[in-house]
Amino acid sequence: MESKIDFNYFLSERAKRRPKASKFINFIFTTKDEWTMFGAGIPNICFNPFKSLEFSINDENNSKITLTQQELNIAQEYPRGYGYPGLLDTLRDFQSRFHGLDVNNYEKTWELFLTNGSQHSIAVIFEMMLNDGDSLLIEEPTYGAVACVSNSRDINMVALEMDDEGIIPENLVSILSNWDYKKRFPKLMYLIPVGQNPTGLIYSQKRKLEILSIAKRFNILILEDDPYYFLQFPKEGQDDLETIPLEPSFLSMDKEGRVIRLDSFSKVLAPDSMKEILDKHLGDLVQYRVPDAGMYFWLKFQDLEDSFTFIKTYMIPTQILFAPGVTFSNFRGFNQYLRASFTHISLEEMDTTIETFSKVLKQYIKDKKERNE
Ligand SMILES: Cc1ncc(COP(=O)(O)O)c(C=O)c1O
Repeated sequence: MESKIDFNYFLSERAKRRPKASKFINFIFTTKDEWTMFGAGIPNICFNPFKSLEFSINDENNSKITLTQQELNIAQEYPRGYGYPGLLDTLRDFQSRFHGLDVNNYEKTWELFLTNGSQHSIAVIFEMMLNDGDSLLIEEPTYGAVACVSNSRDINMVALEMDDEGIIPENLVSILSNWDYKKRFPKLMYLIPVGQNPTGLIYSQKRKLEILSIAKRFNILILEDDPYYFLQFPKEGQDDLETIPLEPSFLSMDKEGRVIRLDSFSKVLAPDSMKEILDKHLGDLVQYRVPDAGMYFWLKFQDLEDSFTFIKTYMIPTQILFAPGVTFSNFRGFNQYLRASFTHISLEEMDTTIETFSKVLKQYIKDKKERNE
């Protein structure tokens, strides 16, 4: 079924200004492989620099993948504007398998395109949807790079409060129903539903349905940024990582075409156990909730008033770096927090690092006490 949403309403002025002719030509260029392209600046394939390419895979069999000259010729031309056709086919099947999209209706009811990563996608979507001065609904705290991409556009960031199941529907409804129309009404809501960065929580299914229904009521699109979708951890009683049921995505529940979903290849997990190490070295000095998914522990320290300054003055000399809480806030909050990634260092290294961190923190607390005496 085709969407009834008027997507024109969501386009930025910049996106609307794109000339119609170039849109049409681009459409032919990107969808009609069989046409003879006199209109495009495509070099002849006999000049392509690469004939074949072999990749060694980091698996138990040391498998290899070889790309043939024919495959490489497609990659060395301008392939269809949406990305390499073979990869698009695979990803289309993948989206259909995990999010229930109908492959037969591809291009009629949904589209998929490749970028250089989710962060690039965010930049592209903001370019397409946001004017200077527009409002954007975001979780507080959220992934810091969103601010980097939106800062240049002078975006009015609107913070959505969260509990352990995601953003709070009552808070969202209250913000939207009592909107101050001196600012532009939001058209887009940016959410990280699995392994929310930095808190590590997973939105409940019930919560997602409530949010979708609010988005429909207020005509808002949802940007579902989900790079940690496959990094969901087993809950109590589930011990097999291979068979745990994955949470249904916003996209899979969307009946209207209201969700733009971002997937990423950049997040791969080597599961380790950080909890015991934190408890062993930090005990009551730290508060946290074990993440449901993703790569991070979101740590709160009662004794820190300003984790950014603490990192600069106390941690830099140790050459151990945590992400300060304030970098996940668009409102200069979360100053008692640090985010720790637990995926790329060994358990032994984690143990010595957290031990050092604990010593430095205790020194900081001692210094502070002495200053106050
Ligand atoms: C929520 C979120 N989105 C996007 C990204 C970046 O993804 P990519 O590497 O695909 O650009 C990150 C990485 O930290 C992230 O946490």
